[in-house]
Amino acid sequence: MNKLFALALTAFFALVLTNCQPKESTENTQQPAILSSVIADTSVRAALFLDPHSYSTMESKVTALHWDANVDFETEVISATAQWTLQEGHGDTVIFDAKNLDISAVLVDGDISADWTLEGNDELLGSALIIPLKLAAKQVSISYKTNPTAEALQWYPASLTQGKRQPFLFTQSQAILARTWIPCQDRPGVRFTYTAKVKVPKQTLALMSASNPVEKNETGVYEFNMPQPIPSYLLALGVGDLEFIALGERSGVYAEPEMVRNASYEFSLTEDMIRDAEALYGPYYWGRYDMLVLPPSFPFGGMENPRLTFLTPTVVVGDRSLVSLIAHELAHSWSGNLVTNATWNDFWVNEGFTVYFEMRIMEQLYGQDFADMLEALSYDDLQNELASMLEEDPEATKLKQDLVGRNPDDGVTAIPYDKGFHFLRLCENTVGRENWDVFLKEYFDKYKFKTMVTEVFLQELAALLTQEQWNEIGVEQWVYGTGLPVNCPFPASNRFIQVDQAVKMMLTTDPLDANAKSLVYLDQEVTIRWSTHEWLRYVRGLEAGGASEGHYALADFNYGLSGSPNPEIVAAWYTAILKTGFEGFDTAVYTAKVESFLGSVGRRKFIVPMYASMLEGDEKRQEWAKRIYMNARDSYHPLAQGTLDDLFEEAL
Ligand code: BES
Ligand code: ZN
Repeated sequence: MNKLFALALTAFFALVLTNCQPKESTENTQQPAILSSVIADTSVRAALFLDPHSYSTMESKVTALHWDANVDFETEVISATAQWTLQEGHGDTVIFDAKNLDISAVLVDGDISADWTLEGNDELLGSALIIPLKLAAKQVSISYKTNPTAEALQWYPASLTQGKRQPFLFTQSQAILARTWIPCQDRPGVRFTYTAKVKVPKQTLALMSASNPVEKNETGVYEFNMPQPIPSYLLALGVGDLEFIALGERSGVYAEPEMVRNASYEFSLTEDMIRDAEALYGPYYWGRYDMLVLPPSFPFGGMENPRLTFLTPTVVVGDRSLVSLIAHELAHSWSGNLVTNATWNDFWVNEGFTVYFEMRIMEQLYGQDFADMLEALSYDDLQNELASMLEEDPEATKLKQDLVGRNPDDGVTAIPYDKGFHFLRLCENTVGRENWDVFLKEYFDKYKFKTMVTEVFLQELAALLTQEQWNEIGVEQWVYGTGLPVNCPFPASNRFIQVDQAVKMMLTTDPLDANAKSLVYLDQEVTIRWSTHEWLRYVRGLEAGGASEGHYALADFNYGLSGSPNPEIVAAWYTAILKTGFEGFDTAVYTAKVESFLGSVGRRKFIVPMYASMLEGDEKRQEWAKRIYMNARDSYHPLAQGTLDDLFEEAL
């Protein structure tokens, strides 16, 4: 199909527009004339940028926030005033998203008599705060309190922190939870700068996705400034007994005193990553890049809050083997924070580009062989998830999503990440690295501090590719089609050849054979050099190959996997063995390990597959899973609770 026609058609198809018909282009031009005119058509353009997850409208937009807040750990409530500056030329109402907020007053330009209303009470979207305006109005100021059950907030009593001295609080706004702690136009298409003044208990330090203090002060009051405009999902706050260690000129790490030294060792290559990232795709626009290590219940690996990435402590393993997570969150400083998905339907534009960029940073810093392992694991993840998704919900395997009426969280699968990554890798392979890098660098520059819809990216891509290349890739199939096109690049990994041989050796050995142990024992010389990634490949290889209890017992005997101190390996190992009857060599140790892991770690990527494996097991195992979850549920983040509630409901 002609690429211009295909683009126009898909754009039209996506929009179900009938007011104008695409014309077939006869020339093989570099300029996608038809799509340009489609996108230039304001109504079509507006439809592409329509956000199904926000009540706010583009008629009246905000440009700046001043947030004045008091954080009360006793009641688990934030009392605050959000003062929003309106963009000139606004309409006669402004609409904010608010969920579960107790709003006490709204002032327009200081006038208390604003006639505001709160409409709707949607389980997913919350309510619309509607404020009538005079056309000359400049500011609205909203006073409110959060609810102790606010989904974006996780409160910790001191007893549940590492140091047990002070309480801890952190926010998670992405995707549509900022509205549970600040009334805002909660859509990635609206950007604003912000300042803030936050009062917290003395002895705790407050940090935001902004300029940050490096130590506590006597007053417990901290001030913040974020001069670069950000969307609401990047609003973030962390409060706790925190210390700072600088890593270099423009990076550092915050964590509880018990953790901060280990973290600074683990992340010591951050400055090199920033340097490599800039060399690839242009300047880092955010001033500093600091990181905050959160308590273990943080439901994600990382969250790219600008200037202050939030991180799970489960990557602090002592050998720096899991720092691709830092490369990932740092890469978001370009793909996501600088060029932002316009709506959650375009989420792959954030994550696919970020995984691609992450791999490039890792390749630069650790070499091709190391990056190859990460890419091969990404490919495996994709294949695994695709298999079940194609059965359950094939629509969810499209890069461009339609999430109307659904939680954007449902779109967080291997598709935007790994299918997105492989699509971009295929584009790179097609035009050559040099051209591709020039293209991406220009893309980040041209769209910096702007939002991106899939169709505008495709328009840029159409200008880069020849018709032949466009067809060869099958761009529209990749973006709007289900499943994985057959031309998906296959990442081969040298370092995994040896691992795959080891897996094969194990699976072809009879565990009851008297010589089994020596048959499958790999020399220390070999395994000592294995990184976390080789072990992950090994464990997943056993699982995919249908290893028996006997095989797992042998593997455990040889390599002590049940006792691994590395949470990434622990999670993969128990996810595999919990499906079988294998209970480790010492059942008491095995039981304790599973219970203490699930009781202390809340990272969704780890605990959801572990529970899922238990629920696949016999009744005894299911009962055990239920019991562990009942005890641990309170310590999990609301987001993880939601996912697990669904999992248990479906399974039982
Ligand atoms: N921005 C995401 C986390 C996220 C996505 C939060 C959607 C809420 C909704 C973050 O950058 C991310 O992708 N984290 C991954 C890291 C991994 C792919 C390296 C994670 O937490 O697993
Ligand atoms: Zn990400």
